[in-house]
Amino acid sequence: MSSSEQASHTTYADAYRESMDQPEKFWLDAARAVDWDVAPTKALDDSAAPIYRWFPDASLNTSFNALDRHVRDGRGDQTALIFDSAMVPAKTTYTYAELLEQVSLFAGVLKDQGVVAGDRVIIYMPMIPEAAIAMLACARIGAVHSVVFGGFAAKELATRIDDAGPVVLVTASGGLEPGRTIEYLPMVEKALQLSATPAHTVIVKNREQIPGAAADYKSSAAAWFDWDELIADATPADPVSVAATDPLYILYTSGTTGKPKGVVRDNGGHAVALTWTMKNLYDISPGQVWWTASDVGWVVGHSYIVYGPLLAGATTVMYEGKPVGTPDAGAFWRIISEYKVSALFTAPTAIRAVRKADPDAKELAKYDISSLDTLFAAGERLDPDTYEWATRILDRPVVDHWWQTETGWAICANLRGLEPMEIKAGSPTVACPGYRVEIVDGKGELVGPGTEGNIVIGLPLPPGTLAGLWRDEDRYVKSYLSTFDGYYLTGDSGYIDEDNYVFVLGRSDDVINVAGHRLSTGSMEAVVAGHPAVAECAVIGIHDELKGQRPSGYVVLKSGVDIDPETLRQELVARVRDQIGAVATFRDVTVVAALPKTRSGKILRKTMRQIADNEEYTVPSTIEDASVLDELSKLLRG
Ligand code: COA
Ligand code: AMP
Repeated sequence: MSSSEQASHTTYADAYRESMDQPEKFWLDAARAVDWDVAPTKALDDSAAPIYRWFPDASLNTSFNALDRHVRDGRGDQTALIFDSAMVPAKTTYTYAELLEQVSLFAGVLKDQGVVAGDRVIIYMPMIPEAAIAMLACARIGAVHSVVFGGFAAKELATRIDDAGPVVLVTASGGLEPGRTIEYLPMVEKALQLSATPAHTVIVKNREQIPGAAADYKSSAAAWFDWDELIADATPADPVSVAATDPLYILYTSGTTGKPKGVVRDNGGHAVALTWTMKNLYDISPGQVWWTASDVGWVVGHSYIVYGPLLAGATTVMYEGKPVGTPDAGAFWRIISEYKVSALFTAPTAIRAVRKADPDAKELAKYDISSLDTLFAAGERLDPDTYEWATRILDRPVVDHWWQTETGWAICANLRGLEPMEIKAGSPTVACPGYRVEIVDGKGELVGPGTEGNIVIGLPLPPGTLAGLWRDEDRYVKSYLSTFDGYYLTGDSGYIDEDNYVFVLGRSDDVINVAGHRLSTGSMEAVVAGHPAVAECAVIGIHDELKGQRPSGYVVLKSGVDIDPETLRQELVARVRDQIGAVATFRDVTVVAALPKTRSGKILRKTMRQIADNEEYTVPSTIEDASVLDELSKLLRG
């Protein structure tokens, strides 16, 4: 099947209707943009509903689609990846031929270390090209990668190691944050010690700016190797054919409990869906420069720093640095002008950070950003104020779109390549083809336009969305599929207006979103509760001007404990930082006499958050002692 053939629809309405009425036709047509070893004759396998699979009789290799076929089709000399580090500073580019060579060699390294198709490989790396190379190398030999964000500490890494059961862990000597270096190797060693099923091999990319090398760790349980030494002796590995339904990666994300959820992504549906979005949503064609300012440790980085742009034959920019302070609020504009970026994708919090540092966009005036067509935002709601500011200073479409780690690509968007639609501030626009987005009340009844409720998606979800949770089908069904029959529960609440525009208002569970990072208050509570002075606690996400939300802890002390509140705060902050990581941004602690609870003992976290955010709230009739809430309100509203 030719990779250039891709069905095109003329309007959003056409595409959406076809995806609902004739999903087989819609997705088999979209699948023609992918190079298959065995082409699909069938799109959906619903034989095990509500667990669905896409392209059950097809096989392919994702790394072949992201690299080899572009070289085969004459794009070998085109730049595939631009690495720009504002931290080192450094600039490196890889053509498609060069990236293919590095990926093939590292795939050979993994094979030499005994990695075979289906084995898991943990990748714990900063924003350096080797992170993408390691991901694509896993894909090449059918191994399943699991990237762990570098801002997570040893214990979180250990939890993920235990769940994934990797044979190899790929890491680097460290990452660079403003004003400090993050040494990864001591954390890796500690994680391996904490883990019940540690990887037997650790491969380290040494960065000269950061101390620590594989050689320093020869004495520990795993065998440690140096990336460059292994590459020097490696034989390039060819892509292996895997089933479209085989897992490409596991990405852990925060759920409502302390245990992260291992979201499983398949190969075939993922390649089809991401390729479709590059053209139809982002309007990016082969050869154009695309930049996602995120981190490979998050889903946005997986889909749109690594896989999406490379599957589409575009040039992807990988940036190590912050939007502000590295060195200034012109960082984004510098990159756009230097590499002629056509579209930038970032999180609203990053735009707010730029605005705070440079409200009059004086930095912007120093750069030529004429190459930029569109700014895309996701990760949290693009608040109307930030939207208006960005639109004004850029004088270009600023496009919000809503999705989750679970879906891997946008649930709702303004499909710029298919049919640009009017932008309504505060809305990620309309449901993407394949997603039947609806709003239901607590009983599962559909509600009308404008009425707020739970945002749900009619099953099946489209290709590219989660195939399940790693080795935990029960949790998958329980968390997402059993609350409302026939629907996937997004965990977000919101409403749909008369024009079918979706408005996402926030999570309806205990997941919080801090600076575009998805975190679990449950895991922070577990750490806080472990302090010897703490009897019980609640961590809630409260509104934050810059980061969207920030975690705020309320603790009840054990009776008889006498501890200075500031000392306790510092100890709890250090504990969360040590056990979860700096990224948790846990800084606020308030000691309270009691926590508000229902008669069955459930802490009223939602009510606490509503009070703190000055929202309207109703006191649940099941409250055990209303006076506790009255007392707490004074502290929450400060
Ligand atoms: N490794 C180690 N530590 C990290 C880290 C990493 N990869 N990323 C962040 N941290 C640390 C930070 O250094 C900071 O530490 P500190 O408490 O010692 O200062 C802490 O974690 C909190 O980081 P963050 O919340 O990111 O704050 P920040 O001030 O460093 O940056 C923003 C603020 C808004 C600029 C930044 O969060 C950002 O760009 N966010 C966008 C997120 C994103 O892209 N999300 C993906 C969805 S699109
Ligand atoms: P993550 O899995 O880290 O991508 O986080 C997913 C969650 O972030 C969603 O469930 C939403 O709560 C929130 N989110 C992401 N993008 C948006 C958006 N454009 N608008 C509103 N909320 C968003």
